[in-house]
Amino acid sequence: MSQQFPNNFLWGGAVAANQVEGAYLTDGKGLSTSDVQPKGIFGGVVERVAGDSGIKDVAIDFYHRYPQDIKLFAELGFSCLRTSIAWTRIFPQGDELEPNEAGLAFYDRLFDEMAKYNITPLVTLSHYEMPYGLVINHGGWGSRQTIEFFERYARTVFQRYQHKVKHWLTFNEINMSLHAPLTGVGLPEDSSPQAVYQAIHHQLVASAKAVKACHEIIPDAKIGNMLLGGLLYPLSSKPEDVMETLQQNREWLFFGDVQVRGSYPAYMKRFFADRGIDITITAEDRSALKSTVDFISFSYYMTGCVTTDEELNQKARGNILSMVPNPHLPSSDWGWQIDPQGIRILMNELYDRYQKPLFIVENGLGAYDKPDADGAINDDYRIAYLNDHLVQIGEAIADGVEVLGYTSWGPIDLVSASKAEFSKRYGFIYVDRDDEGNGTLERRRKKSFYWYQGIIQSNGASL
Ligand code: BG6
Repeated sequence: MSQQFPNNFLWGGAVAANQVEGAYLTDGKGLSTSDVQPKGIFGGVVERVAGDSGIKDVAIDFYHRYPQDIKLFAELGFSCLRTSIAWTRIFPQGDELEPNEAGLAFYDRLFDEMAKYNITPLVTLSHYEMPYGLVINHGGWGSRQTIEFFERYARTVFQRYQHKVKHWLTFNEINMSLHAPLTGVGLPEDSSPQAVYQAIHHQLVASAKAVKACHEIIPDAKIGNMLLGGLLYPLSSKPEDVMETLQQNREWLFFGDVQVRGSYPAYMKRFFADRGIDITITAEDRSALKSTVDFISFSYYMTGCVTTDEELNQKARGNILSMVPNPHLPSSDWGWQIDPQGIRILMNELYDRYQKPLFIVENGLGAYDKPDADGAINDDYRIAYLNDHLVQIGEAIADGVEVLGYTSWGPIDLVSASKAEFSKRYGFIYVDRDDEGNGTLERRRKKSFYWYQGIIQSNGASL
């Protein structure tokens, strides 16, 4: 590929606190929604008892092993690492007035370690793990007061890390609350659309308030939103299918429309009316929403199809979204459809719609890795997946789309979000652990490690 990636393009990987750190009660951390779902987002809620151990309690022990892991990321050539701050390390129950110093100190150590290698942190304020205390004592994002709690948390970390972190994201995959209400907005899974949309509204206001606070406290920082890029195609060219696809794409683009344009899009009026949804939006909310993001970040794993034909409407459960499979595409070990061109289409659509820079903050292949007899992991399937997607990203850049960077998901193996599996691996770095939690946690470089190192070194020219 000819040189298409800009010289200041940020290359790296992305992880989330609850999927790597472990140390789930260490140094004063409180329980999060992730901690009470030890089997993952779709695994149900359990009462946690002391000493009980879910796989995420240790995860890959990044809380203690981060110096070794950051060194490996530096060896890969990373100029950027996306991670999240666990809200519960800073405000363990969520509603305290003062933050937990031990939690703040941990992220100081982590960002200092990254700085040693010139790795730019890209930090998500909330990645699938709000304080469980807010859920049980305040009704999660159903309560307007949660906006205040979040703003206090956001202001605290902006103040504390203002000289260390200049790239921020508000809520991970904010559009997935529609499919996983507890993880997204701290509401019971069977909540009504009315309740979920009211909670989403509170979260959108909180996101905008965090944008404003970030601009005030760190004037040279950039802050973005984060969407699950769930692009849908019509299964046929029937106008009914095309119209239904437009509607279903709007269900997730709605979040971007509010966060980028600063107000509710016109189509939501009818959407709410058709469903009997009537949410409270105050004048103060409308004014708060005007603080819009500097860039749009998104995850991209797959696309899906939409049909109005009942019989064909056999949806496959992906991660969070259920989508009708595309007959023209192959699938991963987990049934996620592989569509490299889809990322180019999505990038063009987002850029046409918003004219703001994009940041691809998740993309990757979850697969079973089987070490050879000599222990080597020859993950050619992962190399092929990433290579094909990066080629299409290069094409989107050539199409004129402005892109700040690319952080592949899970550069080091971690616990999967949907089902808390360990056998679903995304990494360039293998971690010795299995689904039952057995293993030494030793780190090993896979074949893809050397491949990605070469891509970064050549700034994408070796694709
Ligand atoms: C995204 C999430 O939905 O997909 C990540 O932001 C998650 O947290 C990733 O890990 C992949 O999903 P899974 O279920 O394979 O871990």
